[in-house]
Amino acid sequence: MNQMETLYKSNFKTGAYDFYEQQRLHNPIFPMSDTRPPHSWLITKYDHVKELLKSTSFIKDQSKLFSSSNGETENVNLNIFENMMLDVDPPDHTRLRKLVQPYFNPKTIKQLEPRISQIADDLLIQMKEKSSPVDLIDDFAFPLPIIVISELLGVPSEDRDKFRKWSHTIVAASDNMTADFTEDVQAFTSYLTQLFEQKRACPEEDLISRLLQNEEDGEQLNRDELYSMVVLLIIAGHETTVNLIGNTMFALFEHPNQLKKVKENPALIPGAVEEGLRYYSPVDFSTARWADEDMDFHGKTIQRGDFVLASISSANRDEEKFDHADQFDVSRRRNAHVAFGYGIHFCLGAPLARLEGSIALEKLLNSFPDIHIDLDAEPPEWRPVFLLRGLNSLPVALKKPV
Ligand code: HEM
Repeated sequence: MNQMETLYKSNFKTGAYDFYEQQRLHNPIFPMSDTRPPHSWLITKYDHVKELLKSTSFIKDQSKLFSSSNGETENVNLNIFENMMLDVDPPDHTRLRKLVQPYFNPKTIKQLEPRISQIADDLLIQMKEKSSPVDLIDDFAFPLPIIVISELLGVPSEDRDKFRKWSHTIVAASDNMTADFTEDVQAFTSYLTQLFEQKRACPEEDLISRLLQNEEDGEQLNRDELYSMVVLLIIAGHETTVNLIGNTMFALFEHPNQLKKVKENPALIPGAVEEGLRYYSPVDFSTARWADEDMDFHGKTIQRGDFVLASISSANRDEEKFDHADQFDVSRRRNAHVAFGYGIHFCLGAPLARLEGSIALEKLLNSFPDIHIDLDAEPPEWRPVFLLRGLNSLPVALKKPV
């Protein structure tokens, strides 16, 4: 089994934190491939991760490094991934980010608070009325962020199960391309083409209508970038926040003394959200970067064209940065985690995710003070997705056991 396969082992999520600890101690710049160049490296220490994410010597655009691409760029559907702001460097990155940044500033996002609370309340009522067992992921943690991002963009939220399928396929492609991949990407782009036509005919007060205007103006956004932007916002807008809500509740269930503290003192909720982000980071790894030059990186020779990945989860459990890093502590001080990344690609949606996470926890614990893991159900399992950490399902009981 080579080094990369070790990382892909099906039970990797369960043993990941032990693996990271070993790498931080013995092999912090971990070679994921040991054959011919270009090499692949996994960076596991907090300080190194921040340095990597900030450095201009590591870039996103492979085409600057490799003279001919693999031909996939001919495929209009795969162009989606090459024009995302997350996958490009300045000046394109700066231009794309500037277009949407105003809609995700903390001040603008704060105005969504009443609507997010309303959506959470509606979901909680449906949970209460359910006759079948409640799954915190399917019944709450998934619908909340997808409804919010859909409304912000102007996408019908009734279609959310389609996005869920398409997003899952796209995110899983970081592990292995499934047969569904091309089909689902095609379905996603065709869906958006229709939606864009409707919105061009009848623009509304939503982000997609504004982006379409930008595209028509022609200078700020081209057609491929428009598709990429919407796909990125839909995927990033919910694949991650569902995990924030699910993982933080799971960590609280695993640590009853911390759950008790939060219930007794709701002022601790924002701290619990930050600790959830650090302890079970919803995004396990940064997206890919490539070395733009030969360099020595903390004792390892990294060559131009090498592939480099930051382990966000490992950085967030680094004992050199966090006291008792493996303890879940909702009152933790100086919690400077890197769950939202660092540098120019720092998460655009961080204020939204934080707000959704706080509202979700507050509403859940307020409505169901006795909520606990359903002990009669199968134990929760991590989704076997390389890039993310999130539970497949989280069966809960809402009332005290009798
Ligand atoms: C708990 C929830 C979230 C987590 C943990 C998270 C995490 C991250 C991380 C780690 C990055 C940087 C990746 C890298 O540098 O390789 C990132 C970027 C990004 N995130 Fe999030 N994210 C969350 C929620 C959201 C939401 C709600 C949105 C919705 C709009 C969003 C939109 C984005 C975008 C657009 C980028 C790319 C920014 C850029 O390239 O400048 N994220 N996120």
